[in-house]
Amino acid sequence: MITVENIAVLKDQVARLRQGGKRVALVPTMGNLHEGHLRLMHEARQYAQVVVASIYVNPLQFGKNEDFNSYPRTPGHDKVSLLSARVDVLFKPTEMEMYPRGAAAQTFVEVPGFSEELCGAFRPGHFRGVATAVYRLFSLVKPDVALFGKKDYQQWMLIRQMAADLDLPVEIIGVDIVREPDGLALSSRNQYLTPDERQVAPRLYQALGSLRDRVVQQAAVTPEAEESAMTELETNGFKPEYVAVRRRQDLKPPTAQDRQLVVLAAAWLGRTRLIDNLEFELKP
Ligand code: PAF
Repeated sequence: MITVENIAVLKDQVARLRQGGKRVALVPTMGNLHEGHLRLMHEARQYAQVVVASIYVNPLQFGKNEDFNSYPRTPGHDKVSLLSARVDVLFKPTEMEMYPRGAAAQTFVEVPGFSEELCGAFRPGHFRGVATAVYRLFSLVKPDVALFGKKDYQQWMLIRQMAADLDLPVEIIGVDIVREPDGLALSSRNQYLTPDERQVAPRLYQALGSLRDRVVQQAAVTPEAEESAMTELETNGFKPEYVAVRRRQDLKPPTAQDRQLVVLAAAWLGRTRLIDNLEFELKP
């Protein structure tokens, strides 16, 4: 595996590896890699002969009072994981490489319709920061395909929309969530949980399952069903931000005709913000 910080070197190395018409996959990450990330790396091999992973804790997607400074940074562990996943290139840009005029002065990408709702309503500017970093990574690596975890469902949808709107020549793949045996979705932020909170955390996934079952049973999405999932979470000690059933194609509230749905939630457990989602279908 080649580790690169510099953009000129990155471009050279990717061009060299691409020779002979090889396809290039990009897996953007913020590091502190877990099994969920490694699934992305392994899946990337199905689509491309060259796999590039990036690690960059992107300041643009953190709000003022969020965990940018304390976000876990584990470079040694990450390198070992990437080697075992047979990644070809690790791109680890410095802030100067990512945003040469500084993060605040960076030209940004906004994806209306996806940025303001759900997580976007609680994290203003977050998705602009994500889209800007991912666009920049796309323009540096020029991947044929890029893979994102579906745990960040809204992020995955937003990046797909960005690629479509800007006609970017990259295929965007969403990869299924990896869960602990008790259902908790893997996340770098799970390590913020205290042992007691860790016991309770899978109830987020359980609440999504109960809401899905209720919607399937009623064959309809009702505000009461979403509210009762919020109450279930509160009863279990969470501070939920939202629980919502949306249609998958654009994350808008479903109409009576929509069948492909997803239930999404964000909730605080102590000092940890957890997100999760569950795709499901209504019978025609
Ligand atoms: O999902 C993440 O780790 C980040 O949001 C991403 C896609 C690497 C952009 O900074």
